[in-house]
Amino acid sequence: MKNLADIGLIGLAVMGENLVLNMESKGYTVAVYNRTVEKVDHFVNGRGAGKNFIPAHTIEDFVSKLERPRKAMMLVKAGQPVDDFIELLIPHLEPGDIIIDGGNSLYTDTIRRTKYVESKGLLYIGTGVSGGEEGALKGPSMMPGGSPEAWPHVKDIFQAVAAKVEDGSPCCDWVGENGAGHYVKMIHNGIEYGDMQIINEAYHIMKDLLGMSADEQHEVFKKWNTEELDSYLIEITRDILAFKDEDGEPLVEKILDTAGQKGTGKWTVVSALDCGIPLTLIGESVFSRCLSAQKDLRVAASKVLRGPAPQFEGDKQQMIDDLKMALYGAKIISYAQGYDLMMEAAKEHNWNLNLGGIALMWRGGCIIRSVFLGDIKKAFDNNPNLRNLLLDPLFAEKISAAQEGWRRVCAAAISNGIPVPALSSALCYFDGFRSERLPANLLQAQRDYFGAHTYERIDQPRGKFFHTNWTGHGGDTTSNSYVV
Ligand code: 6PG
Repeated sequence: MKNLADIGLIGLAVMGENLVLNMESKGYTVAVYNRTVEKVDHFVNGRGAGKNFIPAHTIEDFVSKLERPRKAMMLVKAGQPVDDFIELLIPHLEPGDIIIDGGNSLYTDTIRRTKYVESKGLLYIGTGVSGGEEGALKGPSMMPGGSPEAWPHVKDIFQAVAAKVEDGSPCCDWVGENGAGHYVKMIHNGIEYGDMQIINEAYHIMKDLLGMSADEQHEVFKKWNTEELDSYLIEITRDILAFKDEDGEPLVEKILDTAGQKGTGKWTVVSALDCGIPLTLIGESVFSRCLSAQKDLRVAASKVLRGPAPQFEGDKQQMIDDLKMALYGAKIISYAQGYDLMMEAAKEHNWNLNLGGIALMWRGGCIIRSVFLGDIKKAFDNNPNLRNLLLDPLFAEKISAAQEGWRRVCAAAISNGIPVPALSSALCYFDGFRSERLPANLLQAQRDYFGAHTYERIDQPRGKFFHTNWTGHGGDTTSNSYVV
């Protein structure tokens, strides 16, 4: 075993353990440290026994065991613990050494930390790591950003441990400066929320409108997973639906219907609001989790508020086929919206994002991995300046083909009182996006009526603003001089 480690990792929770085992299996020597130091010995004498791990019992000890430039990676809880470890590491590091944060940090924190760490003569990387425990062990998707000079030093390690697609390309590449890696990971998580929500809405319709058992639904997901919806989340849903509790009943039906969330979906939506990008599907997905969490209130409301009793009289197989189209159409919208947001954020933060490269990073290893991402990669390969995924000829054709069934699904759900916020808002976005004229002319008139906010006219050049004295007793002064 080498005296010095190629990289060191702080944080031996299950993700950390699995990631270092993955690194070691690729031929790297890894120094390991944990705040609760007993965990270090437990690991090197347990899962790490006989392997190329160098245990460290203090931060100083940890740093001294790293080859230069030192690569100190943290997989600790996002937030204050990351700042705390940065402070502990800095006094022991030398110019050119690299601090890496592999947690789900908020990108604005990563922007701040990159600046701070660089001000100390060091380099910083904030990297998204997706794929859960299994991904960390067998090959996660990794989305690094931060100080560009740091990338050549970690590239080989990161790309060796990352998942690979069919042609062997790693699901890891440099994303961009400062917070770009964590931003892209945040968008990944937002899309994860969206993919999960639309699957949940399909499940709800199958269960409550079509009256299908979990086993019957399992068969549908099993088939879908061999077709264009082939993805990790469809695959695990297939398996969840087949999973039986000790009494032989489907376990899924015994789980309390209140969703948890750690915040990355919310951050995505906050960013969308800040950037002014309509990220409706992910927004509805976050709010759906919030509504599910209001369990007591819903239980009370269910006693007083009545709606239609779901009743399906049509062709069941047709509705199942339509559901697949609804999921497919909504998925296209979700990714189109997520990419739209990334493009806008990239402009604001001066990130030169490789949009096709991001699809490739998500193609394997991560929670949203799917065949679909291969098509997104192709779309950006065909046209690197593609302004919106919906304008790619292939996606335009696919969404057009999906809309008939998708509309039937939303209509049936709405008339039967089954909530489909993500599927239906995505359809509304599609209809809005493809509308040359929306009713915002009336909205502008209203704004001008009550607040003299002015409007532009269709028969005048853009940028020329008008105000009308709608009531005959308003003044001529406009309030166009401020934007909140
Ligand atoms: C991943 C996941 C991972 C985590 C989510 C869960 O990419 O591996 O996204 O980061 O499981 O953050 O998020 P919620 O608890 O908010 O559902």
